[in-house]
Amino acid sequence: MIKAVRGTRDLLPPDTALWSFVDETARAVFRAYNFQEIRTPIFEDTQLFSRGVGEETDIVSKEMFTWEDRGRAQSEKGQLITLRPENTAGVVRAYIEHNLQTRGLNKLYYIGPQFRRERPQKGRYRQFYQIGAEMIGPPTSGSESPARDAEILELLATFLDRLGISGWTLQLNSIGCAQDRANYNEALRNALDPVKSRMDPDCQRRAVTNPLRVFDCKVPEDQPIIEQLPRISEFLDEPCRKHFEQVQEILKSVGVPFTLNDRLVRGLDYYSRTAFEFTHGALGAQNAILGGGRYDGLSEQLGGPKAPGIGFAIGEDRLVLALNRSAEEMQSKPDVYIAPLGAGMDRESARLARELRHQDLMVELGDETFRLKKSLETASKLGARFALIVGENEIKADSFALKNLATGEQVSVPHSELVERIRPNS
Ligand code: HAM
Repeated sequence: MIKAVRGTRDLLPPDTALWSFVDETARAVFRAYNFQEIRTPIFEDTQLFSRGVGEETDIVSKEMFTWEDRGRAQSEKGQLITLRPENTAGVVRAYIEHNLQTRGLNKLYYIGPQFRRERPQKGRYRQFYQIGAEMIGPPTSGSESPARDAEILELLATFLDRLGISGWTLQLNSIGCAQDRANYNEALRNALDPVKSRMDPDCQRRAVTNPLRVFDCKVPEDQPIIEQLPRISEFLDEPCRKHFEQVQEILKSVGVPFTLNDRLVRGLDYYSRTAFEFTHGALGAQNAILGGGRYDGLSEQLGGPKAPGIGFAIGEDRLVLALNRSAEEMQSKPDVYIAPLGAGMDRESARLARELRHQDLMVELGDETFRLKKSLETASKLGARFALIVGENEIKADSFALKNLATGEQVSVPHSELVERIRPNS
């Protein structure tokens, strides 16, 4: 038997009702904040991620699904292509490619699959889904303002509240401007120099090439060394510190609680200044429900104009795990089950079903070969509110037996009154 590939999974009903509920809630919240949808390709030129996300990150160095897209002719040189491990780099590429800076501040959101070759476990998949948003524009559009950072964080709090998810913690940090991080990296390099030989080989290499990435080392024996390293909060220059303070002031004024965490550096290289994650207690080891931050230099790094930005991506798989709702409860049930009774009644029932569906009723259609008992049992199993019996007598009288499946009450309803009688809350 052929099975779904390791780290991928089928999302089936009734669970898909939860996913739709999350998607629809996200779209409604994005609308309230005037975000518009963007859809970028699922695969991109590999360089986009190595230059955007960073060569030394776990994502680029270990987790990407990459292949050579050979041309048909032997002589054609292959291009390296990668399934997107995240969507920020793709959005910024599209921003540059389509000259979106002429539109001022762009507020874009996306919902879709991402791919990382990670070790699968609960809440961690190789194909997973993100709901993300990016706010990006030229500095004159206000894209650098701390008000934008606070707006993004307040949007996230609103979204989680709307979903009924409580028990989250917003972990907030500033990882400084480019110069702060250069100074910090230097300090980390100096601090790591005498101790790095005791570390895991992967961490040793990072200690030299990109010391900030040492914080992503998960080897337990290295943690006491990592714990002793200098803290980014000591390296913020005045404008960066001010920016961070203003973000915090707005958050306090709108009532979004947060916890400062100066060890939060995020696993992608494009960040500067504000960085954040929302964690959730119910999720176990993979407790980061979402992450994001500023990426003021990313556009320039990818060959574009100066376009500061901030955004986030929510792990939808994890969000659904944290939703305290039953999938069955979320699933819509048919308003009416049409039970054709006897030969020739499929045809009549199809006409009636078409009419009711055009009135936005949810209709399930039976089959004329079923006995009435079987039809009624099927209707109950599906959770339909009514069964509508369509037999020869009903067609002649143009009046139908409508059975309320909750109360068992059955009445004869003229054709012209059917929609009104079946419609919920009527
Ligand atoms: P990220 O922290 O790499 O950030 O991913 C964001 C979220 O995606 C994580 O917090 C987690 O919930 C989910 N996620 C990541 N990997 C997996 C996985 N293997 N299985 C299930 N869920 C996963 C980004 O991707 C940035 N692009 C976010 C961003 C947008 N920053 C600025 N704009």
